Amino acid sequence: MAMQLELEKITPVVGVIAHGIDIAKPLVPEQVAAIRNAVLENGVLFFRDQGLTQETMGGFVGNFGEPCNDPFLISNYANAAGRVIEMNTVRYRKATAVWHYDSSLAATPAALMALRAIELPPVGGDTCWSNMYAAYDALSAPLRDMLDRLTAEHSAFRVLKLMGINASDEYLDGEMRNIHPVVRVHPETGRKALFVNELWTQKIVELDDQESEAILAMLFAHVQSPSFTMRWRWRKNDLALWDNRAFMHYAVKDYTETRVLQKALLKGDRPYGPN
Ligand code: SIN
Repeated sequence: MAMQLELEKITPVVGVIAHGIDIAKPLVPEQVAAIRNAVLENGVLFFRDQGLTQETMGGFVGNFGEPCNDPFLISNYANAAGRVIEMNTVRYRKATAVWHYDSSLAATPAALMALRAIELPPVGGDTCWSNMYAAYDALSAPLRDMLDRLTAEHSAFRVLKLMGINASDEYLDGEMRNIHPVVRVHPETGRKALFVNELWTQKIVELDDQESEAILAMLFAHVQSPSFTMRWRWRKNDLALWDNRAFMHYAVKDYTETRVLQKALLKGDRPYGPN
């Protein structure tokens, strides 16, 4: 009989640790369905001490969708195994220490994502996640109604600035600039989640610059509330699998040593709003 998934919640609103399952082995459909449900309900699912390789991580993640590239990290895919890339995150730590959805600047941002810890600093380099259903639900009804009707532009502009790179047409044109609803209806759960983030969202299209700046600043502060968030202290061979459609993440930049993670993204849909 296949091993049963047991779940240990981290907070009431985000994060759960999986026990009783070996994800390095092929999974039966019931296990795939149980893992998918756990991710949809809790946002992030953590597996500890898993004997995966870059190849078998790709096989595990492939149970949940079609692997895709991160449009911003495209150069890293040259050496990727099964679209799982390995990266020393020291290089990106200024850009990822901001609450964000991965690839929300793309027309179809990643649906699910996975990270696996390969080499860690002695201390520091935790990753945090925040529940954007809970953040949306906590706003007052008149504000939710207004946000339901708005859209926002996402692009690489702020990331390039954080990384000290001159914004060029290559990054700011075409696939790298997209308009998405401010409130996204999740295609599987049907729930509403805030879909703006400090890394990629530049402006609310329907508001003037000053109004947009003020509303975005308020939302960017709101999503950081400890009521919606959790913090994960990585151990080598941990794997996190999460829903990038309703849960944002933030990588704490409190380390200077090598920190190597493997990362995989699964293809998502074009986000749609409530109206
Ligand atoms: C990322 O934001 O994609 C990286 C997360 C991390 O470094 O923990």
